[in-house]
Amino acid sequence: MRAFVVSEEGDTLSMGVREVEAVASDANDILVSVDYSGVNFKDAMVAASKSRVRRVSSLVGGVDAAGTVMHSTDAALPEGTRVAVHGGTLGVARDGGFAQSIYSPANYITALPDSISTRVAMIIGTAGFTAMESLLALEDRGLEAGSEVLVTGATGGVGSHAVALLAANGYRPVASTGSPTASAWLFERGAVRVIGRDEVADNPGRVMASETWAGAIDCVGGDTLAQILRSLRYGGAVAACGLVGSVELSTTVYPFITRSVALLGIDSVEATRSTRVRVWSALGAVATRIDFEALVDREVDLEELTPALDDIRQGKTRGRILVNPTPG
Ligand SMILES: NC(=O)c1ccc[n+]([C@@H]2O[C@H](COP(=O)([O-])OP(=O)(O)OC[C@H]3O[C@@H](n4cnc5c(N)ncnc54)[C@H](OP(=O)(O)O)[C@@H]3O)[C@@H](O)[C@H]2O)c1
Repeated sequence: MRAFVVSEEGDTLSMGVREVEAVASDANDILVSVDYSGVNFKDAMVAASKSRVRRVSSLVGGVDAAGTVMHSTDAALPEGTRVAVHGGTLGVARDGGFAQSIYSPANYITALPDSISTRVAMIIGTAGFTAMESLLALEDRGLEAGSEVLVTGATGGVGSHAVALLAANGYRPVASTGSPTASAWLFERGAVRVIGRDEVADNPGRVMASETWAGAIDCVGGDTLAQILRSLRYGGAVAACGLVGSVELSTTVYPFITRSVALLGIDSVEATRSTRVRVWSALGAVATRIDFEALVDREVDLEELTPALDDIRQGKTRGRILVNPTPG
């Protein structure tokens, strides 16, 4: 089969399309024929020189895939099931979804709801899954219907899905972006306001900022997350899912002990099977109310992946890059 392989030998990083065999790591691995994959920020980190995310010297890239089960010993995922495949070590330490087929443990495979095609599943991908996981975490914490919710990194994969999902579920998303020319696009996705990256919080000289956000979905981390914490309303919460700005976090305990706010950690990679079913089911319930095609930055084939990875690394994309391993 054709696959996009990332290899590093010594100081030499190489990547490109190769003919390789799909290989099972375990007799219970499930074989999935891949219709689509998608490009994530993590894929760009895997395809970087001396990557601290990639854990092997050579692998098929791609943390996401969607397609049809071709061979399975798992009663819950019989042959012919349409599925999304993501998480675990896929595309990080074992072969991933930039290929025409993939073997995966059952834990990382979820049957798709009828309302979600394999194409839409990969427009959603890990990014949209993480956005919905974040929204469910905010709701579990008590987010009130119709609340204003901040989304940072709003034009990215997670951010743009967060804006669309919040709007489709009756909330009022406020999009924070460093891409001022994307305002009209963000309003079309459902944002009620678009603000700059530096407008997340006021009162820069004081410990606490004004109570502004009932909730937030943060893709950026670092000072952005610190600013969100000091500007949450009483009892509010932030779902922290990203690190494009920084992995550091410098804050005080005041937001927690004077406003009872919550910092909710979001991880999609090791999400349990029941969490995956819950999140994909929630995505399925809202799917007919979202124009997912409008979230596609562009569709690429395996040959076009190298520049696509560069673009996502440099923050040049808007929404999602869809990957078709067998075009035409
Ligand atoms: N927790 C999980 O399980 C999980 C799952 C998926 C992704 N993630 C993480 O979530 C983050 C977003 O992923 P993604 O796939 O949406 O990435 P993406 O498509 O590259 O989007 C990131 C967005 O963040 C903004 N941005 C980029 N560089 C920035 C900087 N230096 N400072 C502030 N904002 C910056 C840009 O949006 P604007 O121009 O609109 O500001 C960019 O479009 C990444 O850190 C990724 O690793 C985590």
